Formats: sequence, structure tokens, C-alpha cells
Amino acid sequence: MAKVVVQFSCNECGTTTGRWLGKCPGCGAFGTLVEELTGQPSGKGGRASPGAVRTPERLATVRVEEAARIPTGVPELDRVLGGGLVPASLVLVGGEPGVGKSTLLLSALAAISRDGRRALLVTGEESVAQVKLRAGRLGGADDVEILAETELESVCATLESLRPDVCVIDSVQTLFSAELGSAPGSVAQVREAASRLLRVAKESGVATVLVGHVTKDGAVAGPRVLEHLVDCVLQFEGDRYHAHRILRAVKNRFGSTNELGVFEMTATGLVGVPDASELFGKTHAGEVGAAVVCALEGTRPILLEVQALVSRTDLAMPRRVGTGVDPKRLAMIVAVLARHAGIPLGTADVFVNVAGGVRIDEPGADLGVALAIASAARGAPVRDGVAAFGEIGLTGRLRPTAQAERRLEECAKLGIATVLAPDGTHGRSATPRVVRAETLRQALAAGLGDRRVETADDAD
Ligand SMILES: Nc1ncnc2c1ncn2[C@@H]1O[C@H](COP(=O)(O)OP(=O)(O)OP(=O)(O)O)[C@@H](O)[C@H]1O
Ligand SMILES: [Mg+2]
Repeated sequence: MAKVVVQFSCNECGTTTGRWLGKCPGCGAFGTLVEELTGQPSGKGGRASPGAVRTPERLATVRVEEAARIPTGVPELDRVLGGGLVPASLVLVGGEPGVGKSTLLLSALAAISRDGRRALLVTGEESVAQVKLRAGRLGGADDVEILAETELESVCATLESLRPDVCVIDSVQTLFSAELGSAPGSVAQVREAASRLLRVAKESGVATVLVGHVTKDGAVAGPRVLEHLVDCVLQFEGDRYHAHRILRAVKNRFGSTNELGVFEMTATGLVGVPDASELFGKTHAGEVGAAVVCALEGTRPILLEVQALVSRTDLAMPRRVGTGVDPKRLAMIVAVLARHAGIPLGTADVFVNVAGGVRIDEPGADLGVALAIASAARGAPVRDGVAAFGEIGLTGRLRPTAQAERRLEECAKLGIATVLAPDGTHGRSATPRVVRAETLRQALAAGLGDRRVETADDAD
């Protein structure tokens, strides 16, 4: 007989305590502890029965049934997953409200069902009629099976008996188990739902996709254990006011992370944008403060326009505001520009923005960001048809970047004439022309065609 005990767990990090506290001892958040009832086995003396001794296997003798991945019919999603859904895996898709999670997954289910596979949608958020309306808009989803259910036990039992190839649960926060006393969406419920679905997915071979809500900081809501449990965590980003959405893998047990998928939201659903560089990597000739950077996202090179604004300020601490760039890297680039390239920015606010709502995390984008800031500070446009990549060191020297060859290929594809790159970058073909620079100062001189950069003094 299970004894019901009361405990308090944190909505943010999942830490549990025996009594209510205003501040979570785990993550320090305030007001996040909520009461939860959990069953606890009440064994006499508390000793569990000794487990059976099992014989481990040698890896060499393990039989592998190479399960083919299930293509989702959405090439951008396949790319992010590492080539399709792995059977019997659990994938978590997080994203802000209204970003298009349900739309993306319904299109995927539609394509999977058209391939002759069994695709099931368990909806807890929308009614069957609402999903039908969306399906009508997207088209081709006639064979998708749909179940409006929020009870965890029923969902698990249905999955075990139907054994669909793919099942989407929209969303994991709406599932609840009557055995637990807490409300749907609470930490205990979400954790229970995820672990039971994981077992069902592995035992019944169902590739299961969970839709998860995100907190205001953008992390998937519910305990962090959710992210540890699942095989793959995908993050759907992009703000509601732009048509473009970015899908990236935060964790992937079966493929590379940092892989990027780009979509455009249209009246007929999300359309993949295979050539994102074409869309985001254009500047207007002669425009001051704009540069094209060739960044790498996973295995995918992408050309992005970076814009910068440098404006005089009376603030004692000038602002460095970056949208789509890491604030620490931005501060470093500004400091190196001032110290080693003769571009004083001590009395200026610096704003940097990356086109299309894309976020660039890799250091290879440094040179492009520096070029945009230098262009804005000098009032001199970047030379026409120039793209840049390269990591900037604290000494003002440029460091070679990974996969230069792929970046150059992408530049050639998009008709870029000249690429500014660190010394030691080798291109296999004649186009684009590679201008190699050893230092940031040399790179800026070549990119801006501004003699003042070459002759200006150090320090400031
Ligand atoms: N007719 C339409 N034309 C263009 N875009 C549309 C149309 N209808 C809906 N959308 C877009 O679809 C988005 C909603 O998508 P969806 O319901 O898939 O989001 P979601 O991430 O599942 O949201 P939630 O978290 O609320 O479930 C809206 O923000 C809107 O931009
Ligand atoms: Mg939805």
C-alpha cells in the first residue's frame, strides 16, 4: 500500500524539500516551490528485496537491428534531427507560444502518414475540430489519426496497443496521471509523463515527439530532468512578428547538435527555406555599418548580414547591445577594435543586430561583426561583394576557423566576389578570391578600403 507524502518541488529546477520555502535552495528562484503529493512504498523495515544477478553482455556480441530512420517529410526538420526520426526514440520540441510547434509537427505527421506509416497525434491543448481546421489549411493530413486525451494511463495504453510508427503529444504539460495528486503541468506530473512515455517508446518502438512549453527565459518548462530523459531536444525559435523561424537541436543522441533548420510561416504552413543565405546574407551596396559574415551552424554554412550602429553617448558606461550575438563576445570585439585596430569606441554606444532573428554563437563570425562595427564607426561602407569570417584573438591577431572550405563554397554559391579570411585559409577553387589577413587591422583595411584604419595609431 502506497503512503501519500507531501513534499514541495521547484517548478524551475525540480529540487524537492520537505517544507515550503520562499526561495528554492536549488536554483535560488523565488516563489517557485509548489506542494505535491507523492506515493512512497511503505516496506516494513525499508529493505527492498535483493535484485536478481544478471550477466552482462560483451559489446562485440550485441546484436544490432539497424533501424532505418523515419523521414519526416520536412527536409529542414530531418536535417536538425540528423536524418530523420529514430524509431523508439523520445524527442522534445520546445518553443514559445504561437511559434508554430503544432503546425510543424502536423505537417510532419501528414507526410509520414502519406508514406504509409501510422502517425498518431495526441492533442491535449486543442480540440479535434481545431486540429481539423489546421489540417485543412496544411492539406494532405487525411490519414493522420487523432486522439483528444490528457490522461497519461490512457495515452500509454493506447500507444502500447496501437503501436503507431510516430506519435506526437501536444503538449506534455497537459498530460496528467490520476495516481499523482498534483495538478497537470506540475513538476511531478511532467516528470512522470516523460518517464512513462519513455518506457512505452522504447518497449513498443514508437518514435514519440513531445511538445513542451518554454519558460519566460526560453528554457523548456518543467524540471530539467525532462531534458536528460529524452534523446533529443529541439528548440523552435524566432519571434512571432517575423515570418522566419529557426529550429535547432540543443541535444541530440543520434546526430550533431547546433544543426539549423530555417522555416518561413505562410498561410499554408511552415515552408522550409533551404537557401537561407540567399535570404539573410545580402547587404545594400554602399550602406554604412553592414557586413556579410559567413558563419557555420553545425555542418551548415550560412551567410548572414550583420548590422551595427555606433552612436556618441554621454553615458559613463556606454552600451553594447547585441541581438543575435553573444554579449561577452561583443564586448571583447569592441575592446580589441579599440586597442588593436585604432577604432575608439570608449564614448560610443554600440548596437549590433543579426539579420532574420538568427543567433550566431560561433567565434568564426567575429571578423564580420568587427567589420560592421568598424564600418559604422568610420562611416565607410564595406567594399561591395565582400564577406568575412575568422576568429579574433585578444592580441588582435586572426585565428583560422574550422571548415573554411565549406564556408568558401557557400560564398561561391551566393556569388560573393571576395572573402576576407585569416592567414592560412586555403580555397580550392579560384572563386571567390580569398584575401588573407594576419591581423584585425589588416582585415579592416582590406574590407573597408579606408586608409585611416591602416594608419591610425594603437591605443585609445
Ligand atoms: N492563416 C494563417 N496564415 C499565416 N500564418 C498563420 C495562419 N494561421 C496561423 N498562422 C501562424 O501559426 C502560428 C500558430 O502556430 P501553432 O499553433 O502551430 O503554434 P504553437 O507553437 O503550437 O503554439 P502553442 O504553444 O500556443 O500551441 C501563429 O502564430 C501564426 O503566425
Ligand atoms: Mg500548439
